[in-house]
Amino acid sequence: MAVRNKQVILKNYVTGGLPKESDMEVTEISIQLKVPEGIKDAILLKNLYLSCDPSMIDSMRKFETSYVPSFEPGSPLSGYGVAKVLDSTHPDYKKGDFIWGITGWEEYSLIKAPNQFFKIQHMDVPLTYYIGLLGMPGMTAYAGFYEVCSPKKGDYVYVSAASGAVGQLVGQFAKLLGCYVVGSAGSEEKVELLKNKFGFDAAFNYKEEPDLNAVLKRYFPEGIDIYFENVGGKMLDAVLLNMRIHGRIAACGMISQYNLDHPEGVHNLMHVVLKRVRIEGFVVTDFYHLYPQFLEMVIPQIKEGKITYVEDTAEGLEAAPAALIGLFTGRNVGKQLIVVSHDW
Ligand SMILES: NC(=O)c1ccc[n+]([C@@H]2O[C@H](COP(=O)([O-])OP(=O)(O)OC[C@H]3O[C@@H](n4cnc5c(N)ncnc54)[C@H](OP(=O)(O)O)[C@@H]3O)[C@@H](O)[C@H]2O)c1
Repeated sequence: MAVRNKQVILKNYVTGGLPKESDMEVTEISIQLKVPEGIKDAILLKNLYLSCDPSMIDSMRKFETSYVPSFEPGSPLSGYGVAKVLDSTHPDYKKGDFIWGITGWEEYSLIKAPNQFFKIQHMDVPLTYYIGLLGMPGMTAYAGFYEVCSPKKGDYVYVSAASGAVGQLVGQFAKLLGCYVVGSAGSEEKVELLKNKFGFDAAFNYKEEPDLNAVLKRYFPEGIDIYFENVGGKMLDAVLLNMRIHGRIAACGMISQYNLDHPEGVHNLMHVVLKRVRIEGFVVTDFYHLYPQFLEMVIPQIKEGKITYVEDTAEGLEAAPAALIGLFTGRNVGKQLIVVSHDW
C-alpha cells in the first residue's frame, strides 16, 4: 500500500551565519510501507519522535572536515529519532520493534544497512526519553561527566547551557555524586528550573552578566574543579581565569561559535599551564559501548525520582524547522523534540 510521506528537506547548503527556516521545506512524496522486493538487510520505519540537535546545523553546510556528514540538498534532513519497525529484511530487527538511532526527518524511512540503532527494551518510561535522557544527549552527559571529567565528591562543578538536553543531566549527575554545582542559562525561567527542578546549588543568567569573570568569581570564590563546556567563546575565556589547580574541562560543544564566520579567539590559555588544567574534547559515539552500563545506572534513578528531565515538544513536521533554528536563540526550554506521530 502506498501512503503519503511528509518530509523536511534541505533546500540548499547554508552559507554563512545562522540557518533560517526557509533553508528547509516541508514536502510530500509517496512510499510503499514495505521494504521493496530484493532489498536485503533493510528496515522500513514509522518515525514517532525526532530530535533537534545543535550538530545538525553543521550538516546543513558543505563541510569536508566536520565529524558529522553533510545532508544532501533536496533530501530529508536526518537525525536521532525513535521509530517503530513496520517491515524488515534484516535478521536483527522484526516488525513491531521499537528502536532509536539516526533516521530521516520524515514520517516513514527506508533504512538500508541499519547499523547504528539501539533496540528499546524498557517501555515503562516515556518513549520520548530515547532521544533525550536515555538517548544520545543522556549518553553525552554520562560519558562527558563520568569518563572525561574524573569527578569526585565535593568538586566545584560549572555547567554552561545548563538547562539544555545535556546540561540538565550533567548537573543532576554531579549533585548525586555530592558536588557543588552551578549552571548558567539564557533566561530567568531557565535559571529557576536549574535551581528548583534540577537541584543546582546556584544558577545565573549569562545574558544579564556583563562581566563573566566577576560572576564566576562570585559563585566560585575558591575556583572551579570541573567545567562542562557547552558554549565556548567568551565563557571559556572567563572560565580559564577561574580554574583550580588540576581542574578538568570536558569540551562537549561550543554552540556560541557554530554560526560565526570567524570563530572568536581564546586569550587565557596560559592558565591551562599555570593551573595544570586538562582540557579534553570528546564525541559521544566513541562511548556507545557503555550504553548498557548507563541504562543500568539511570533507569533505577528515573524510577526512584532521583533524576528528572524537561522536554520541549514541537507538534508535527511543519514545526520542525523553527524548532531546530530555535536551539541557537535559546527558544527551547529543555530537550527540543518533534512529535511526528502519537499513534504507535
Ligand atoms: N560532544 C558530543 O558528542 C556532543 C553530543 C551532544 C551535544 N553536544 C554539544 O553539547 C552542547 C549542548 O547541546 P544540547 O543538545 O544540550 O543543546 P541544548 O542545550 O538543548 O540547546 C542549545 C542551547 O544552547 C544555548 N545557546 C544557544 N546559543 C548560545 C550562545 N551563543 N551562547 C551561549 N549559549 C547558547 C541555548 O540556551 P540558553 O538559553 O541557555 O542560551 C540553547 O537552548 C552543544 O554545544 C552541542 O553541540 C556535543
